[in-house]
Amino acid sequence: MRLKDKIAIITGAGRGIGKAIAIRFAKEGAKVVVDDVNDALGTDTVSIIRDAGGEAIFLNADVSNPTAAEALISKTVNIYRTVDILVNNAICSTEDVLNNNWEANLSVALQGTSHCSNAAIPIMQQNGGGSIVNIASVNGLIGLQGIHAYSAAKGGVIALTRSMAVAHGRDNIRINCICPGTVQTEVWDPMIERNPRILDEIIPWYPLGRIGKPVDIANAALFLASDEASFATGAVFVIDGGLTAGNHQFPI
Ligand SMILES: NC(=O)c1ccc[n+]([C@@H]2O[C@H](COP(=O)([O-])OP(=O)(O)OC[C@H]3O[C@@H](n4cnc5c(N)ncnc54)[C@H](O)[C@@H]3O)[C@@H](O)[C@H]2O)c1
Repeated sequence: MRLKDKIAIITGAGRGIGKAIAIRFAKEGAKVVVDDVNDALGTDTVSIIRDAGGEAIFLNADVSNPTAAEALISKTVNIYRTVDILVNNAICSTEDVLNNNWEANLSVALQGTSHCSNAAIPIMQQNGGGSIVNIASVNGLIGLQGIHAYSAAKGGVIALTRSMAVAHGRDNIRINCICPGTVQTEVWDPMIERNPRILDEIIPWYPLGRIGKPVDIANAALFLASDEASFATGAVFVIDGGLTAGNHQFPI
């Protein structure tokens, strides 16, 4: 088991990529704190983990609220004594992404990452180290889809990852981020409603000829969270089926 008895908080773990990370980490022996603003989704993730013999609890914390983020960390410490791993995964709703809602995108994805990390770092310092994995996006690396507020928030997550990694290396706190390409989660449902073929239309852009599955990102998060990544910090781990490597359809 690669995370035996590690205490891991995953934000936005009620569905999609966060849920897959929570389930993956629990299978590797972590005690998982499932955070979400949706109680039904969060408790469902916990049930799946417990039914498989793993350990998890649900805490409802809106990561965009610094007080709630602090409470998420302090409640975890009260229950489990410490925090070893934090995965900052939560994002605002698809509607807010599509409507370029700057307040929602920046406050959840970017400031939420900062709030939770700032609350967890003193605990990790006392503990002699820890691992933070931030879920950014290819949209933080290249221009796509005109969703400027989301892209700027994710670019900010990449910069924040590097800045915090440099500041906390000597605390033995490793801080890395993942840039996923398209991953089939419920986040795509409103787009599929508008255009049922959208995911099929996206596939040709991917050198690997498919879009991602949540477990593809969960496996990368597992590596970064685990001791196997002991020399990785400030890294930007692109897991995108080759999307940002280039485009083989470019005419010649
Ligand atoms: N799905 C993709 O194609 C894709 C691609 C690149 C990056 N990502 C990134 O991966 C992460 C997860 O994406 P997903 O597709 O699983 O998203 P999702 O919308 O399916 O899941 C996000 C979860 O976060 C929760 N949430 C919303 N606001 C919150 C808040 N303020 N505090 C705590 N929880 C909150 C939601 O209730 C939901 O359960 C995001 O950071 C996203 O930007 C996703």
